[in-house]
Amino acid sequence: MAVPRGCLGLPLVAVLLASLCRGQAAVRELKVGYYAETCPEARSVASVMRLQFHDCFVNGCDGSVLMDATPTMPGEKDALSNINSLRSFEVVDEIKDALEERCPGVVSCADIVIMAARDAVVLTGGPNWEVRLGREDSMTASQEDADNIMPSPRANASALIRLFAGLNLSVTDLVALSGSHSIGEARCFSIVFRLYNQSGSGRPDPHMDTAYRRSLDALCPKGGDEEVTGGLDATPRVFDNQYFEDLVALRGFLNSDQTLFSDNTRTRRVVERLSKDQDAFFRAFIEGMIKMGELQNPRKGEIRRNCRVANNSPWQPRTGMASGQSTSELR
Ligand code: HEM
Ligand SMILES: *[C@@H]1O[C@H](CO)[C@@H](O)[C@H](O)[C@H]1NC(C)=O
Ligand SMILES: *[C@@H]1O[C@H](CO)[C@@H](O)[C@H](O)[C@H]1NC(C)=O
Ligand SMILES: *[C@@H]1O[C@H](CO)[C@@H](O)[C@H](O)[C@H]1NC(C)=O
Repeated sequence: MAVPRGCLGLPLVAVLLASLCRGQAAVRELKVGYYAETCPEARSVASVMRLQFHDCFVNGCDGSVLMDATPTMPGEKDALSNINSLRSFEVVDEIKDALEERCPGVVSCADIVIMAARDAVVLTGGPNWEVRLGREDSMTASQEDADNIMPSPRANASALIRLFAGLNLSVTDLVALSGSHSIGEARCFSIVFRLYNQSGSGRPDPHMDTAYRRSLDALCPKGGDEEVTGGLDATPRVFDNQYFEDLVALRGFLNSDQTLFSDNTRTRRVVERLSKDQDAFFRAFIEGMIKMGELQNPRKGEIRRNCRVANNSPWQPRTGMASGQSTSELR
């Protein structure tokens, strides 16, 4: 633990994430997943969780995904799998600002991503676990690496198995971590190919329940607005194993989800097991998040003062505050 106890003595990250849900009447009834039902910003909570995947897969968990592009460095935010899609950077900024006020220069942005991802799972009714801290922030980001590494929603099970294996993540890790799609939403942009032209066939993906496909056709009509979003599973605000039940029922939203049940016996066995046993899902998910969260960037890092920019960069946000907007300007 590189972080002094005093800095994280109160679960500050969780408190700030939960503050996305402020303005509710006094809580009378305590229950798991309470915020999943009451939080108008539940979607921000899901998108914060996604940041861990997009940070850790690209050169380790080093906060690189948080960096704004500068005139000399294209940012990962503009990579194909992130642009118009990855969100909630301002939530990380707020957490960082609050931590900088209390313990300047101590808590890395990379660690904030890891803590916030865990807290997002807890806030939506999922399991809790201890995270190990002490990561450093990178001084650069690589849009090219993000484009080369991050998987497409069109990916099939064998490509996903290979990608995860390259990071020492097992078939079980792949399936359990995909269970993060138990919360959150995706755009029609990410599924129109499978609704109307799967693998260039001019036909829909055959691995879809008919009624479900009709509902997706209605949500995402051919030639319609591809920014419209739908739930990644039937209960997109609650972290549970509904996602796996949906895959078994051929009601997966993304091709990269449904393929885990429909195209590969190794992943299918895990999907079937997790669809019947939520505790097994939670255990496997925690193990996967810890492994993914410990992918490291071997290069020397720093504790960024502002998650959007390296400390020594000539390109500093105009306001000088972490909550500044994305445009950088020469200091
Ligand atoms: C296995 C490969 C994966 C693929 C191909 C994939 C792909 C995607 C895509 C295409 C979206 C929707 C993007 C959009 O349309 O805007 C999405 C959303 C999401 N992904 Fe993944 N993902 C994968 C694994 C993961 C992992 C490992 C995590 C976290 C541990 C994760 C967390 C999320 C979350 C929480 C959302 C919803 C975000 C929101 O509501 O804003 N995904 N993913
Ligand atoms: C899976 O996708 C990869 C990469 O796009 C492709 O080369 C391979 O043929 C696909 N495999 C199957 C079984 O469809
Ligand atoms: C995977 O594990 C091997 C053997 O333990 C190690 O050498 C390698 O660096 C690991 N790869 C990643 C991406 O962590
Ligand atoms: C379907 O995909 C194939 C291959 O990607 C492409 O050549 C074809 O034009 C597409 N058809 C339609 C109707 O978009």
